[in-house]
Amino acid sequence: MKIFLDTADATKIRECAKTGLVDGITTNPTLIAKAGRKQEEAIKEICSIVKGPVSVEGVGEKAEEMVRDGKEFAAWSKNVVVKVPMTKEGMVAVKRLREEGVKTNVTLIFSAAQALLAAKAGADYVSPFVGRLDDMGEDGMALIEGILDIYSNYEFETEVIVASVRHPMHVVEAAEMGAHCATVPPEVFEKLFLHKMTEDGIKRFMDDWKKVQK
Ligand code: G3P
Repeated sequence: MKIFLDTADATKIRECAKTGLVDGITTNPTLIAKAGRKQEEAIKEICSIVKGPVSVEGVGEKAEEMVRDGKEFAAWSKNVVVKVPMTKEGMVAVKRLREEGVKTNVTLIFSAAQALLAAKAGADYVSPFVGRLDDMGEDGMALIEGILDIYSNYEFETEVIVASVRHPMHVVEAAEMGAHCATVPPEVFEKLFLHKMTEDGIKRFMDDWKKVQK
């Protein structure tokens, strides 16, 4: 399973990417605003750090605006994937961007029906938001299972990015289900490495080693 970082913070991306375990990046207008930088400058820097896909999202609502912005974003780097919201206009934009050779990631997916339509429109990726569903008392990971079932029935090539990840178990369950990717905030990425027994084990090895070094 590919692991993407869900952030526009270049410092955190650089730090996490040192592990060699970061396969791509996803951003959105909220994350760009949080990074406090111009979108173009931030995305170009991110593309110089990570070699995989980097999702970039505009705020246009009409298909024409999404296509225009998407083509502009795609010209920044060959890594750019254009994020398009799950709307009728968005699906028109996905088809047009595909014709132009621009990759797309359909975002704000909250139902299997939406994921089906996005795949039919030719999206390269879909981003179901599991954490936001969980926040509403729904079952985010059950949606992932449903989408993967549907895609396997028809051999769609659209990849599922488990998004709005809140904790390591979202990532583990995504992998168990065979999701293509999970996009995780840097804080969750760091937590994936940790286990108390690993820390305790290292300490015990060190202590025992020191005892015989006199
Ligand atoms: O990738 C989508 C993600 O950024 C949304 O996450 O935490 O705002 O629900 P969140």
